[in-house]
Amino acid sequence: MARTRIFVPRETAAVSVGADEVAIEIARQAKQRGDSIQLIRNGSWGATWLEPLVEVGVEDKRIAYGNVEAADVAALFAADFLKGGDHARRIGPTIEIPYLIRQDRWTFWRCGLIEPLSLDDFLAHQGFTALQKAFDIGADAVIEAVKASGLRGRGGAGFPTGIKWRTVADTDSDQKYVACNADEGDSGTFSDRILMEGDPFGLIESMALAGFAVGASRGYIYLRSEYPLARSILTRAIETAREAGWLGRDIRGSGFDFDIELHLGAGSYVCGEETAMLESLEGKQGIVRYKPPLPAIEGLFGKPTVVNTVVTLASVPNIVNLGGDKYAGYGVNRSTGTLAFQLAGNVRRGGLVEKGFGLTVRELIEDWGGGTASGRPVKAVQVGGPLGAYLTAAQLDTPLDYEAFTGIGAMIGHGGIVVFDDTVNMARQARFAMEFCALESCGKCTPCRIGSTRGVEVIDRMIAGIDREENYDLLVELCDTMEGASLCAMGGMTPYPVRSVLKYFAEDFSAAAETDV
Ligand SMILES: Cc1cc2nc3c(=O)[nH]c(=O)nc-3n(C[C@H](O)[C@H](O)[C@H](O)COP(=O)(O)O)c2cc1C
Ligand code: SF4
Repeated sequence: MARTRIFVPRETAAVSVGADEVAIEIARQAKQRGDSIQLIRNGSWGATWLEPLVEVGVEDKRIAYGNVEAADVAALFAADFLKGGDHARRIGPTIEIPYLIRQDRWTFWRCGLIEPLSLDDFLAHQGFTALQKAFDIGADAVIEAVKASGLRGRGGAGFPTGIKWRTVADTDSDQKYVACNADEGDSGTFSDRILMEGDPFGLIESMALAGFAVGASRGYIYLRSEYPLARSILTRAIETAREAGWLGRDIRGSGFDFDIELHLGAGSYVCGEETAMLESLEGKQGIVRYKPPLPAIEGLFGKPTVVNTVVTLASVPNIVNLGGDKYAGYGVNRSTGTLAFQLAGNVRRGGLVEKGFGLTVRELIEDWGGGTASGRPVKAVQVGGPLGAYLTAAQLDTPLDYEAFTGIGAMIGHGGIVVFDDTVNMARQARFAMEFCALESCGKCTPCRIGSTRGVEVIDRMIAGIDREENYDLLVELCDTMEGASLCAMGGMTPYPVRSVLKYFAEDFSAAAETDV
């Protein structure tokens, strides 16, 4: 008799709310009852608010049970959940969950669906088809497809990926590199992690594709140390791919050599900045480099290097498989394709939502997120990490489009969306922005190194009610200096959240005096 397949995610968020205990309890009870099951530790679908999301394979469907606790398992067996039986935790078929089916799953389509460390499962779900197609159509055609897709870097700056790859490809060198930025340091972001934990071979294929397109034979993944599970999954996936001939010399007889090394960061935010990351990869202190030269011309060890974030790279296999035009069909204006938005903070249904650009922040927060977790009104939303501006409730109808965000002094960045209700004090958030910069500054340039520390002091005086108007002017001047004279976006963009607080939430400075630090 065929064993019933039960899926329990092995993904950091799911594990943090008890997925491992649920998996152990399911295995224990099945054994005790003599039920024949196959327990599969899949990745997450990204509906984090439903974790641990347990699925049972019934005929050709997967029936989902949400927020399952180990204590529920006996009752689930009693309710005949191996046949999809009814229970308070039962949601229904996974493919009918509105949160999931209303998305545009281009990059994350395998996450949750497959068993991350099964190469067979990956191959059965179009694994390595894009790389094989690339061997047939050639490197130029790959770069042209990426250019036609309009794909822009998803790590923050939104630089066109095709142009970056073309620059590396056209630069003569005996050695080139692909450096995958998996530092994912922005607050409220977790899309890279969900992809690495849920589809590690997908990232390996993506990096090999990038290497093939630009003529690089070595790739590095710069992974933040706070992701131990992603580390162990990637380590095993790299070994498996190597053993099966998908990494290494002469990949599957193509004549193309490519291998990947995993490198752990040490908890520095600024090491996510691409040149600081390259310094760190070279074994040096993570201090930002002057640009030019661009990493595409002189990057890792002085050689031409593609630096892309995980999600940018992982968007490419389907661009090769399905065509750049198809990808460009999603989105609006110059923001083509999809982005994996991440809903976090004070929101009822936190998680990942991959959707074509153009929907509004309000749609994301209300339609997917279900509003605030506290049920109180939204007061502010920070999009794009700690360097992103705070949007007011009145700005939530801004479409998620790079240029529309630039137009209101904000940025989309890595797509992290952190929601705050009306109990937040925004003066404290402005202080936090400056304090964060002071803590994380690499120290290379004065406006950021000294300016952020002075910024904290000025804000403290404003909160304390000391010469509030003069200090307001001083803070604006300091923001001008940091924005105009910092060497990188760390010091250059810290003024964004601060200015948005000054502009829209100035009254919170007097209220802050009454709140705890
Ligand atoms: C202070 C700072 C931190 C950054 N942190 C990250 C990060 O954690 N992950 C990331 O992919 N990009 C980060 N970036 C952006 C990178 O410098 C770079 O633009 C990106 O890795 C390029 O890849 P993409 O074109 O695919 O976006 C950061 C930039 C700055 C200024
Ligand atoms: S802006 Fe800050 S992080 Fe960037 S180079 Fe200057 S000191 Fe370093």
